Formats: sequence, structure tokens, C-alpha cells
Amino acid sequence: MKQENNIQIEIENNIALLTICREKQLNALNQSVLNHLSITLDDLAEDPTVRALIITGKGDKAFVAGADIKEFQHLNTQEGYELAKNGQENVFDKIENFSKPIIAAVNGYALGGGLELAIACHIRVASKSAKLGFPECSLGLIPGYGGTQRLGQLIGKGNALEMILTGSMLNVEKSEKLGLINKISDDKNILVDAKKMAQACIKNSPKALASAIKCINKSFHKKGFESEKTEFSKLFNTDDFKEGVLAFLEKRRPNY
Ligand code: CAA
Repeated sequence: MKQENNIQIEIENNIALLTICREKQLNALNQSVLNHLSITLDDLAEDPTVRALIITGKGDKAFVAGADIKEFQHLNTQEGYELAKNGQENVFDKIENFSKPIIAAVNGYALGGGLELAIACHIRVASKSAKLGFPECSLGLIPGYGGTQRLGQLIGKGNALEMILTGSMLNVEKSEKLGLINKISDDKNILVDAKKMAQACIKNSPKALASAIKCINKSFHKKGFESEKTEFSKLFNTDDFKEGVLAFLEKRRPNY
């Protein structure tokens, strides 16, 4: 097992388990985590002993509670655009297009960027206590790591609109019904079940798996990703965003 910059990597039986380790911040994705996730993905893509990946969060409270709000609090429009572009291109798109199966083991809150991470993965196993949602609009923002695009592909336009516009958190029963997650697991069995899912994939031909991922991804249009970057970044220059983030940090409701 090795751990570098908040990412722990364990490789066993041809499956790499990546754990995001910022437990006190509910594994929120800061730039350091995203940079190291990107490098780790490149390394694992080249490692012939690794045939599937699992991504999870440290501890039993959160998978990932979103992008790190404190880190982006003072960004301007240009910086907001770069945040979305770098995140999308270096991590989220890389996960979606990875040639080996990637399974998200959603072991608690998967919110905002955390749910975007889970839905960029190919398959999602979630523990019974997990909660899934897109609270960005409550912060005066929208999802910026591909959530406005991938959510509708998974659960349909109407359900995606409801989830993002209301910002409601879903339990796993509702998430499974909508197709947002593939399997519900007991909290203590989540990694066992994620590994079983990975095993079920890697008994098959690696070349066929790579082709299947490529073709399934090709069947979805990607036109909206650029709009997401632009709209996401414009919001950084609004009073609503400043109020939304301040309200979160002051642990109160925003006043729009
Ligand atoms: N960014 C930074 N810090 C975060 C965080 C985040 N996304 N989520 C939680 N934390 C921090 C909290 O600030 C808190 O830190 P302090 O102890 O220093 O105050 C610590 O983690 C524990 O969190 P809470 O005290 O809030 O824990 P809770 O049990 O009361 O609530 C929660 C849990 C409901 C998940 C709540 O933390 C929460 O709402 N988090 C934010 C969720 C969110 O809005 N995510 C979307 C971010 S925006 C985004 O992701 C944009 C994008 O698409 C690119």
C-alpha cells in the first residue's frame, strides 16, 4: 500500500483500490487531490498488472462531499473556467474514458463534485447510508465537473432537472430506482461488493472491455460540456455565489 498527497493506493488481485483521504473535510476534492488523481490514473492505465479500479473515500461518513468550497471561494470567472476545464479534462473525462473498468464505492455523502466523480465512473456500488445530491445551486453555482451532462445520461432529463434544481439529497433506494447507482450494499460490505463487481468485469477480455467502454461512451453526445464550463465560471462573478458560499461557511441558510 502507498499513500501520496491524500490518495492511498492498494493493488490486490489485479484490482487497484484508490482511497481519497481528506476525512476531516469529508474528502472534498481540492486541487492537490485532483492533480494526484490525474497522475495516478495515468500510472494505472500503463500498469499491466491492474485490470480494474475502485475509487472510494476515507472513513465511513463521506465518499466525497464535493469540490473544496474553501478553495474556490475567491475565484473569478477566468479562474472558475480553468477549475472546470482542468477538472473535466484531467480527471473526470479521463475516468469516463479509462480503458479498464472503474467502480465507485460510494460509502457516504456523494455531493456535487463527489457525485460527479461517482457518475464519471463506469459502475456505482453504494452503501445503505450513502446520500447523493447536487447542492451547487444552493451555493449560487452549478455542477462544473460534467454533472449537468452525465446526470441526464444516467437518469433522464426530467429526473436530472429535479435533482439539480431542487438540490435534494437522495437515499440509496431512490438512487437505485432512478438508475443513479447499480447496487446497494451493507455499509460494512461495500468494498467486498465493489471488488466482486470488479472481479465480474475482469474475468472478461481486457481488450473487449476497453472496446465496450469506448463504444458506449461514443453513443452519448458531448456538446454541452463547453456550456457547463462557461455557465459555471460566469456564476463566480455574481452576488448569489458570494452569498451562497458565505452562508455555507457561516453554517446558515443563504438569502437570495
Ligand atoms: N468543501 C470544503 N469543506 C467541506 C466540504 C466541501 N465541499 N464539505 C464539507 N466540508 C467541511 C466542512 O466545512 C467542515 O469543516 P469544519 O469542521 O472546518 O467546519 C467539515 O468538512 C465537516 O462538515 P460539516 O461540519 O458540514 O458536517 P455535517 O455532518 O454537518 O454536514 C454535509 C455534512 C451535509 C456533507 C455538509 O458538509 C455539506 O453540505 N457539505 C457541502 C456539500 C456541497 O455543497 N458540495 C458541493 C460543493 S460545490 C461543487 O462540488 C462544485 C462542482 O461541481 C465543481
